[in-house]
Amino acid sequence: MAIWAIIPAAGRGQRLGALRPKQYLAVAGRALILHVLDCFLTEPRISGIAIALAPGDREWPEVAPVEPRKPVLIVPGGRDRSDSVLSALNALTGKLEKDDWVIVHDAARPCLRPEDLGHLIDMVSNDSVGGVLAVPVVDTLKRADSGGHITATVPRKELWRALTPQMFRYGLLQAALLESRSAGSLVTDEAMAVERVGYVPRLVEGSADNIKVTHAQDLVLAEAILLHRHGSSAKQ
Ligand code: C5P
Repeated sequence: MAIWAIIPAAGRGQRLGALRPKQYLAVAGRALILHVLDCFLTEPRISGIAIALAPGDREWPEVAPVEPRKPVLIVPGGRDRSDSVLSALNALTGKLEKDDWVIVHDAARPCLRPEDLGHLIDMVSNDSVGGVLAVPVVDTLKRADSGGHITATVPRKELWRALTPQMFRYGLLQAALLESRSAGSLVTDEAMAVERVGYVPRLVEGSADNIKVTHAQDLVLAEAILLHRHGSSAKQ
């Protein structure tokens, strides 16, 4: 079964308040998106990578690898993350059969460990639906009212935080995202779209340091994680 990676990278990163989209900010010496790309270029079971970019993105050509060791397809991103993923899926028509796999990973998660990506592929390859990297919730969770007061404590025992990458059958994910779009339902990850149409994705335990860079302090954390992992070589 062929596997392609999809990297939605068409967000503007407004919550971060930087002058440029977060995927192009430097962490541990390189643009965030290049840490992500490296992980997928290195995994031998992945045949190619589709990257969704915002219309008018002028920064990608400045950081793009000159001779990537596998096909890298640039596709137009959409208004929401799910539109960007759907655009990439549509662009892969003819490259994948409906039972082949796609692995979607946020450009904003530069700390993905190659071994976690490999583990996801090992665990999900024989599943009929697909699955996602996730970590069990460790904090005590509170529900709040609009005034910021606690209305309930939510038991954390069965709760997980969904991360990316998320790996699904090509045809199923495309159909699920199309269904969400036509129902006007905003899905925040691939699993949610697949759950909506009645399937049960698998949870695969990943690493809590696979953080999503959303706020300015996450950049500091991502830098620390990558430098600690790679030592000074991350600066080169
Ligand atoms: O905004 P958020 O951090 O949830 O975005 C997650 C990922 O989705 C990021 O990599 C971002 O670039 C991408 N995205 C996208 N198209 C959009 C919005 C977000 O590809 N319209």
